[in-house]
Formats: sequence, structure tokens, C-alpha cells
Amino acid sequence: MTKLKINADHVLGKINKEIYGHFSEHLGRCIYEGLYVGEDSQIENVNGMRTDVIEALKEIRVPVLRWPGGCFADEYHWKDGIGPKAGRKKMINTHWGGVVEDNSFGTHEYFELCRQLGCESYVNGNLGSGTVQEMSEWVEYMTFDGVSPMAVLRAENGHARPWRVHYFGVGNENWGCGGNMNPDFYANEYRRYQTYVRDYHQDYRINKICCGPNVDDYEWTRKVLETCFAHGGRDQHGFMNGLSLHYYTVPGDGWQHKGSATDFDAKEYYRTLHKAYYMDEIVRRHGAIMDEFDPKKEIGLMVDEWGTWYDVEPGTNPGFLYQQNTMRDALVAALTLNIFNKHSDRVKMANIAQMVNVLQSVILTDGAQMVKTPTWSVFRMYRAHQDAQLVESSLESAPIGLETEYAVLNLTESVSIDADGVMHITLANLSLEEAYDIDVEISGSAQESADSANCRGISGEITGEILTGSMTDKNTFEVPDAVKIAAFDDVKRTDAGLKFTIPACSVVHLAVR
Ligand code: AHR
Repeated sequence: MTKLKINADHVLGKINKEIYGHFSEHLGRCIYEGLYVGEDSQIENVNGMRTDVIEALKEIRVPVLRWPGGCFADEYHWKDGIGPKAGRKKMINTHWGGVVEDNSFGTHEYFELCRQLGCESYVNGNLGSGTVQEMSEWVEYMTFDGVSPMAVLRAENGHARPWRVHYFGVGNENWGCGGNMNPDFYANEYRRYQTYVRDYHQDYRINKICCGPNVDDYEWTRKVLETCFAHGGRDQHGFMNGLSLHYYTVPGDGWQHKGSATDFDAKEYYRTLHKAYYMDEIVRRHGAIMDEFDPKKEIGLMVDEWGTWYDVEPGTNPGFLYQQNTMRDALVAALTLNIFNKHSDRVKMANIAQMVNVLQSVILTDGAQMVKTPTWSVFRMYRAHQDAQLVESSLESAPIGLETEYAVLNLTESVSIDADGVMHITLANLSLEEAYDIDVEISGSAQESADSANCRGISGEITGEILTGSMTDKNTFEVPDAVKIAAFDDVKRTDAGLKFTIPACSVVHLAVR
């Protein structure tokens, strides 16, 4: 028996729904074809957004969507993407495949997409190759409700009312594709640019995101915070509300040999999960540096790019980053989201890369066809954690794997209680062979006072769902439902809580009322 202990009285804080956020870049077939097909398309759409994809995304309750990049953001000039479409500039997407970018998807289309998804906006500005004026005018165009050149221009383009910008990124990967800057240079640029990201509204403030580190670049984090955080400003926390972090899981031995998305063995499977688990260490270590500046945890570590990155599907454009998605990706998503939940005191937002047809997507499309990937299913099962309260949990786990240096824990979990008092347990079994008998001991209750923290039996309803299969199982356009969520009923009540068996290579969600 493997023990999972839950202390329902020990509430650790809110899991921001934005942890379940997404990222969509002008890259390959993410925006064009994947999300936006244009009003004249044969594919069913509303104002150009494809209906099938929007419906599938609504099911997972997308809370926030980052756009337009990525590397694309630091070469994007927003004025190219407004006004009558026939007059919009055609340009080269230099980063991603050298294809023509016709700018038919721009600011108005992005906010229409957010409206249809019912999600918050996260716009990433151009610091790498844009001017302060350009960034400042974009913010004015999007958010100013009054008489000003940009507000008038917006009205002329058909949108009299401003939109709400929830998050604004001041540059992307400025240590790399966003200008190859060193941390001191970027930090000073950040201070200058963010000054002109004005709050035109009385009733809300734009959350400004400062470009954070690549993976384990702790020096970047420290240096940027020294300049941007510690000097006060409009708020107690200086000039920023969040610091980004990017980390991709690349199973191969480098960017030249990243590994196949579908053709891998058990060794590579465990190696992938081992590398995905590294997220826990880097979140903790960047978080510890942030704690030195911001002990009250007022700013967030925004993991605004994460996911698996494999070699592209054979025969596809190498610049489009199109890859399939298997049960292995589902487990990467499950363990990563459990990590974010457990660090939700510091991780306030995360955005999987990317939403459709690029890297670890939740949706794949081919013409008029669409499939939901195993990663979609994990987001669907974990949606219950959005804005719920994280509670203390601990699980007996042990290292597994086929190579000592790539060992990984067999089981990972997180537990929350939602606004209706329902407890949500998400548990992933990473082992390819072993099923585990789980003995859940629940003490306390969200509703009961802390002094009654005795073990309790469960009297209410328990519902369960499971995603399971072989490591390479995937959904294809021919067989779109090969991997899908199924009911998980075999859960027994015990005096202390629950017991059940989690099969090998699976993700389980239990809702305990
Ligand atoms: O998500 C693909 C790319 O990965 C993004 O454009 C960039 O920010 C990162 O390097």
C-alpha cells in the first residue's frame, strides 16, 4: 500500500487559474489554420475563429492566452495588423519558416479570440526591435477610453470601446531571440519601456511581466531583480508584477537531436519525465532568489513557456514545430501541473507552448479535421484546480527508471478544495509496469475547524476519471479517440479516507464531496 496523506485543514493558498494558461504564437499553423481560418473559410467559423477548436478549448476553460510570441513578439509591429485586411502589410516570418505573414490576424482578431474563449489577455510587447513609442501607443490603442490619437484610430477600425489587457510582457527571451541582451542592459531597458505601459483605467492595473531567465540562469534572475524590483515605483514591488521563466523538456542529447514525438523506447520515456521534473528544481531555486527581494511573494514567477519539444513530424516544415502528442506528453503535463499547483504561492501563471499545432499542443488540426491530444485530456481533468485552494498533501514515492542518472519519482500528486467544498485529487503514475494500491488518509475538512483534525471517513459522493494507455498511444485524425478520459469507479471508502489502485502509465482525478 502506498500512503497519500491529505490534511484538508491545512490550506496553503489559492491555485491561480492562470496556471492553466496557454500560449499562441504566429508560428507554423498555430494561429493561422489552427485557430483562425478567416471569415470566408469553408471550415465553420465565427468571425474567422474555427468553431470546433473554440468549443474544444472552452471545455478545458482556458483562463489566459499569451500572444503574439515568443520570438515573433520582438519583431512584431502591431500597426501592421490593424485596419482593412487588404491593406495590411505582407512580411516574412523570419523566425518561423520564412513564410509570408499577411497580418490578417492582429490586435482586433486576438481580442475577438479571447472573447470567444472567455479568457484573459496576455499581450507580449516588442522591446527587442520596437521603440518605446510603439509599445506605449499599442497600450493606448488597446486600453484608452477617451479622446486620443490611438483611441480614435481604434474606433475608426471598428472598435470604439477599449479592451482589457490583463498582462503585458515587456519583451520575450531578451537574453536570446529578443535582442541577445545581457541582464543589466535588459533590466535598464525594461525600466524605461515599462514606464510607458500606462494604466489608463481607474478600476484595474495592467500586470507587467518582466523577461525572466532561460531555464537555470539564476544570475539573470538576480541581476534583473536587483535593477527592476528593489527600486520602488508605483507599487511597493517596483516596476513589475511578474518575472517570466522558460523551460522546455527536450529528451534527446541536444537541440540537433531532440528525439521523436512518437517513436521512443522506455529509456527515452523515463528520460523525458526526468527532464520534465527538473521544473520543480528551477522553480524552487528561482523562487528562492525572488524570496530575497519579495518575501511576501507579491510578484509571480510566470512560466509562460513550458512543454515538450521534439523533432518535428517527418515531412513537415522544420520551422513550424509541429509534433504529435502521446501518453508520455500527458504524463509530462500531469507532473508539471502538479508541480505548479504545489508552488502556487510563487507560480501565479503558466502558459503551455503552444495551444494548437505547435510543440506540446492540446489540439491538432489538419484541414477541417481536429483531434484533442492526450495533453488536452490532462487539462480537462485538472481544470477543477483552477482558483481552488491548495491543501497539504504528501505521498510515498520512490525513484524508478532504467538509468540511474535519469531516475524519476513513480507517483506525483496535488490536492485542492474548490469553492463548493469539493476536494480534487490529481495523481499520476509514471511507471510503465507497476500499478500501485493507494491508501488515502484524509484528516480535517475544509469546513471544519482546525482543532478537529482527526482522520475522517468519506460519506459524500466520489467521482473519478482516468486517462491511461501505453506510453506511445496517441490520437490521430483517423482514430481521434484512441486516448480518452474514462470513468474511474473502483474507489472504496475506508475509515480514514479512500483506497484505489492506480494503473501503470495513467493520470487520475478524484472529486470527493
Ligand atoms: O515556443 C517556441 C519558441 O520557443 C518561442 O518563440 C520562444 O520564445 C522560445 O524560444
